[in-house]
Amino acid sequence: MQGRTQRARIDQVGTLLVVGSGKGGVGKSTVSVNLAVALAKQGAKVGLLDGDAYGPSIPMMLGVRKRRASKGTEAIVPLAEKKDIPAEQKLKPLLRYGVKIMSVGFFIGEEQAVAPMPDVLGMLIRQLLYSVDWGVLDYLIIDLPPGTSEPQATLCREMQLDGAVLVTTLQDIARIDTAKALAMFQGVQVPVLGVVQNMDGFICPHCGERAEIFPRSQESRSVLDELPLLGSVPLDPAAVMNGDKGHPVVISMPVSPVALAFTRMAERVAATVKAQRPDVEAEKPVVGKDGDDTVKEEMGTDERED
Ligand SMILES: Nc1ncnc2c1ncn2[C@@H]1O[C@H](COP(=O)(O)OP(=O)(O)OP(=O)(O)O)[C@@H](O)[C@H]1O
Ligand SMILES: [Mg+2]
Repeated sequence: MQGRTQRARIDQVGTLLVVGSGKGGVGKSTVSVNLAVALAKQGAKVGLLDGDAYGPSIPMMLGVRKRRASKGTEAIVPLAEKKDIPAEQKLKPLLRYGVKIMSVGFFIGEEQAVAPMPDVLGMLIRQLLYSVDWGVLDYLIIDLPPGTSEPQATLCREMQLDGAVLVTTLQDIARIDTAKALAMFQGVQVPVLGVVQNMDGFICPHCGERAEIFPRSQESRSVLDELPLLGSVPLDPAAVMNGDKGHPVVISMPVSPVALAFTRMAERVAATVKAQRPDVEAEKPVVGKDGDDTVKEEMGTDERED
């Protein structure tokens, strides 16, 4: 296994984070989006890479959907062959809610199937990391697909990941898979910042009261229980509706319990990174003269044609 110091960094990116879980459907993409937007609201420069080539969710959750299927060469994702390509040849990310975003979903229609072999998924994400003109970022967050094989293995081996945020729900079935993801990150010396317990209780839309919805695991899983709890996020149907419309809850319902939980989670992530990497503040990259103006904010855009 490659030593941590030999793993690659992305130029001008302060902290590279991944959001993952062994389990599907537990809220990784929701956490990634709201973490990114909440950090941006707190004044950080943030990028978000959708690492799910099979089922990219970020375009829909941030309201930059591409419904029409791509044809022929349109569907080819232009990737850099080498690490060092000039900025003008790089892909421009979209800016949404203050976050620079990139997704394979920008190149394919949302109902279009793509079938990269699992073993090239990690390389695809790595090449996207290099091919995008991120500019200067405090945080670059990768929303991982579920699982503990690819692309996670390639990314962990080749990129210097500064932290992993684990997402789970409270049932045993999710916690077992999340414990596997924890073991995977620990096995390759990727620091796990903590765990987010998502869908932890249900907020009734009528009376606003909280109820338990999923049976709480009866088994202790001490490896997870010993991790710092970054957030406990209730299940709120309004969060799904807003997410489906492209408005993350930290924007559309900023004082709701779900949004407040995401905001606190982002504060804890920032504080944990700062505590674990005191060097990063000192080494903060200097912003160039064009600073953040490389991409245009695409507020209100609901659909992309290309
Ligand atoms: N706290 C929450 N309250 C209500 N709905 C939620 C919450 N968190 C996530 N959801 C909804 O659950 C569904 C699955 O969430 P999401 O896509 O974020 O999961 P995922 O782990 O990324 O899934 P996948 O493994 O397929 O990538 C989405 O419809 C999302 O809006
Ligand atoms: Mg997802």
